[in-house]
Amino acid sequence: MRSGATNFLAATAGKRPDRTPVWYMRQAGRHLPEYRRLRGDGSILEAIARPEVAAEITLQPVRRYGVDAAVLFSDIVVPAHAVGFGIDVRPGVGPVVEEPLRRASDVDRLRPLTADDVAHVSDTVKLVRAELDDDVALLGFAGAPFTVASYLVEGRPSRTYEHTKALMHTDERTWHTLMERLTQSAATFLALQIEAGADAFQLFDSWAGALAQPEYERFVAPHTRSLFAAMERRCPDSPGIHFGVGCDHLLEAFKATGPRVMGLDWRTSITDARTRLGDDTVVQGNLDPALVLAGADVALGAAQAVLDDNAGHPGHIFNLGHGVLPGTDPGVLAAVTDLVHEADVR
Ligand code: CP3
Repeated sequence: MRSGATNFLAATAGKRPDRTPVWYMRQAGRHLPEYRRLRGDGSILEAIARPEVAAEITLQPVRRYGVDAAVLFSDIVVPAHAVGFGIDVRPGVGPVVEEPLRRASDVDRLRPLTADDVAHVSDTVKLVRAELDDDVALLGFAGAPFTVASYLVEGRPSRTYEHTKALMHTDERTWHTLMERLTQSAATFLALQIEAGADAFQLFDSWAGALAQPEYERFVAPHTRSLFAAMERRCPDSPGIHFGVGCDHLLEAFKATGPRVMGLDWRTSITDARTRLGDDTVVQGNLDPALVLAGADVALGAAQAVLDDNAGHPGHIFNLGHGVLPGTDPGVLAAVTDLVHEADVR
């Protein structure tokens, strides 16, 4: 472990930091005027493929807010794109696939990921690490197998996940083969980010909340568990955060897959999470991003409520309960960051 990045890494280990570490999901994004200027038009995947551009976008929110962690500017569909699956990210829509994955023979179109396929991501990590102060952590990330599968199978963002659920319930073998392939790809992708200089990682299973708990246990949890186990073996110094939206009913199941930090959205209180999972549970979250849009008074009151909910526990990383919304006022987010940094850590 590097000697720097102390506050963030201390909190992930449940050790008391000097101040509560804070970063925001989607902190590098459209709410920042400097992002919109640099990013221009074109696919986000083109910007990600240019290490100088991706590194600069990664650093923008660190400079503006003084957050305790930078999160690599990348996307959960980068590995599938890199192996030529035929996926793009359409502005205002999200990931879209030319030919969705619907049957056993389609899985072969997803060849195993190698480090060479995503060499530009390693280059970006190295550029960011060289620029970043030692006391700021660098976070890598990957999409969890289920959430990535949902895009490949549906072909576009979905509310019902009907094709994904049909595949898991009608052809369980193909489903598990697909999940194994995506587990390998995520582990390769995360390990190369850490080997290039990332300190920790987040696994986004953003849409797992669409599943009932028994479905999650049967079709998803074994794969997520093997991914966290692979990371503990390959990168034992790098803590993993597990995050999903609307996953209160999966809280215990998520914890059982083996992350060191539990990401919470605003629907699960920190107190409740520690009551259910144990008082030593390290949590990240969980200010409702919509409340940041309601003006400084509401945002600061809600941020203080998150700190009160944590009640001075050392194992807390402050974040939103999901990504920064595009309409967010950077001034309000700056005020929230200052409030968290000035709060007493008992
Ligand atoms: O958090 C960060 O600042 C790092 C960057 C980051 C991006 N995508 C960049 C991005 C992260 C962590 C992601 C992860 C991601 N991508 C997730 C999991 C997180 C979550 O939101 O639950 C998911 C589901 C995706 C897939 C994806 N990519 C979506 C749904 C979208 C939004 C489409 C849109 O335009 O509304 C994207 C595009 C995307 N990825 C943007 C950013 C900053 C915004 C569009 C752009 O600038 O082109």
